[in-house]
Amino acid sequence: MDIFRKKTIERSPLSGMKKELKTRDLIMLGIGAIIGTGIFVVTGVAAADNAGPALTVSFVCAALVVILSGLSFAEFASRIPVLGGPYAYIYVVFGEAAAWMTGWFLICECFLAISSVASGWSGYLQGFLSSVGIHLPTALTAAYNAENGTYVDLIAVLVVICVTYWVSLEAKTALRLNNLMVYVKFGIILLFIVFGLFFIKPGNWQPFMPKGFSGVLDGAAIVFFAFLGFDSVAMAAEEVKDPQKDVPKGIIGSILISTILYIVVTLILTGIVPFDQLNVKDPVAFAMRYVNHGIVGSIISVGAILTLLTVTISMMYSLARLLYAISKDGLLPKFMNKLDEKRRTPKNATYVAGVVAMIFAGVFPLNLLAEFTNIVALMYLIMVSLGILKLRKMEGMPKKGEFKVPWVPFLPLVSILTCIFLMLRLNTATWIVFLISIVVGLAIYFGYGYRHSVYERKEG
Ligand code: ALA
Repeated sequence: MDIFRKKTIERSPLSGMKKELKTRDLIMLGIGAIIGTGIFVVTGVAAADNAGPALTVSFVCAALVVILSGLSFAEFASRIPVLGGPYAYIYVVFGEAAAWMTGWFLICECFLAISSVASGWSGYLQGFLSSVGIHLPTALTAAYNAENGTYVDLIAVLVVICVTYWVSLEAKTALRLNNLMVYVKFGIILLFIVFGLFFIKPGNWQPFMPKGFSGVLDGAAIVFFAFLGFDSVAMAAEEVKDPQKDVPKGIIGSILISTILYIVVTLILTGIVPFDQLNVKDPVAFAMRYVNHGIVGSIISVGAILTLLTVTISMMYSLARLLYAISKDGLLPKFMNKLDEKRRTPKNATYVAGVVAMIFAGVFPLNLLAEFTNIVALMYLIMVSLGILKLRKMEGMPKKGEFKVPWVPFLPLVSILTCIFLMLRLNTATWIVFLISIVVGLAIYFGYGYRHSVYERKEG
């Protein structure tokens, strides 16, 4: 009985899934998961409440944190290209208990991100429906809040059901819609950039840092959310043709492309609208209405409604594969690791992911979900950077053809410190929920996983 029992790299078994994804599919998967609510919704509030026009700098800070962790992800993905992403990596270097906790943080991050985006999406769609005169009964319009008479966010629930069905189809089919949506996403962002350039008033960039650098860092801790999802690339490793090359390229490529887009969009957004007026739920479309181009604003809104779906699709895709990988190791009930006979996708795991995300999306409000998503994500990024330090000790340098994090241990250590720094900027309530989630995670492990682990039986 050993909570530190490890998998060897060879013992990280390959599954029977189809191997058909290439770099391009992975970058699309990454961008599909990354660019969403962060840029279309969160930017406005973060500029108005925290960073002002210097939100651009917040994005650069958050991007640096993410890129540093992305490098560690890339080396792991290249050296241990198996299903389960960080969960599987940590199993190899730190053993089972740490692996489960990393997996648990990831599970929480995915559920929360899917749920936040679904409820944000519901907000957009309800806005659109009411503009054409369709109103849902109040009880069904938002998360549970008896005082306001709302009980469940029906549209958020429905969107999770549709996405679950879609993701339970073949990987390629699920990603095809995703790729199409990613093009729509590029399209509306480009439309905004090209059109917006003509309406920039440099005076709006003053004062640049209304709340000083501290506001910029608070902004960074919030917009960190906008980068979440890059890990879905690592999670797809087992379905990739040449994972050692394609996965690192997919991770770094999708982070870099999103970073560039975020910086440009934020510059233009705060150049068009005075930052203190950006506290709206659709800032990008709002900026167009602000300069009296409501039609462009509406096109952007419809585009955003369509493309927010890609975040839920990509996150659901990774979550299902994560649950599948964990249950294959016995740490979650076995029925989740059945593959669909014909399509070779983890159907049951997808359904479980769908049902839980549906409950979260329907019942919990967006603001609760978002900050918590960040803290759990930062925590598992720390685990991954620690993991690289250990991997280098255990296995030495990467082989030829494998991705290598430069300047080890310096960069992983900087990565850990920057993650801790961002975590410390999140509020106390978020920390309390985070600590509760650690207790729940440990309870599941010692109550179930520890006794059902397949390695427990083998090594008994
Ligand atoms: N990065 C994802 C988004 O911004 C979670 O929607």
